[in-house]
Amino acid sequence: MLLVAFAATAFVLALLIARLVVGPSLFGGAQIGMPVIGGPFQLTDHQGRTVTEASFRGRFTLIYFGFTFCPDFCPTSLQIMADALDQIGPAAQRVQPILITVDPERDTVEQLAAYVPSFGPNMIGLTGTMEQISAAARAYRVYFKKADGGSATDYGVDHSSIIYLMGPDGRFITHFTHQATAEQIAAAIKRNL
Ligand code: NI
Repeated sequence: MLLVAFAATAFVLALLIARLVVGPSLFGGAQIGMPVIGGPFQLTDHQGRTVTEASFRGRFTLIYFGFTFCPDFCPTSLQIMADALDQIGPAAQRVQPILITVDPERDTVEQLAAYVPSFGPNMIGLTGTMEQISAAARAYRVYFKKADGGSATDYGVDHSSIIYLMGPDGRFITHFTHQATAEQIAAAIKRNL
């Protein structure tokens, strides 16, 4: 519960900051000026290819920050993303689901390659150096921090649990908490396709 409270607080703060910067129009669909959630990143996908935010231009993206060793929120959220896209049918080909790791030390290219196919054939896993991951997390206003009390190889990572829907132009459209159902997410995506 601590993680949820922390993540929720961090995200509310991020939204308050976003509201100050851009104004209420961000939350009504129309956007003015620079996007405040999202932005440039350079990472490596689970097949070892370098990708940037521009690699996904022309497609909607459904982005979640998490890690493969996460016992609870991450697999649940990734399965909900996969279920939502299943419900959309063929139009889901226009939506790229993405996991960006917040645990790049353990989530190597190989680790992601073994993990992401569990959530559908289209799921992409992204990793990078800690600097690259931190930059991507900052762009999406994602909080993450290695939890205290673990060992060098066995540890948790506290992190925001938010699913972002970004448009084909890379701009933020909306977000979902991990309490959203696949039906709700599918309906929201369909409204924007
Ligand atoms: Ni998690």
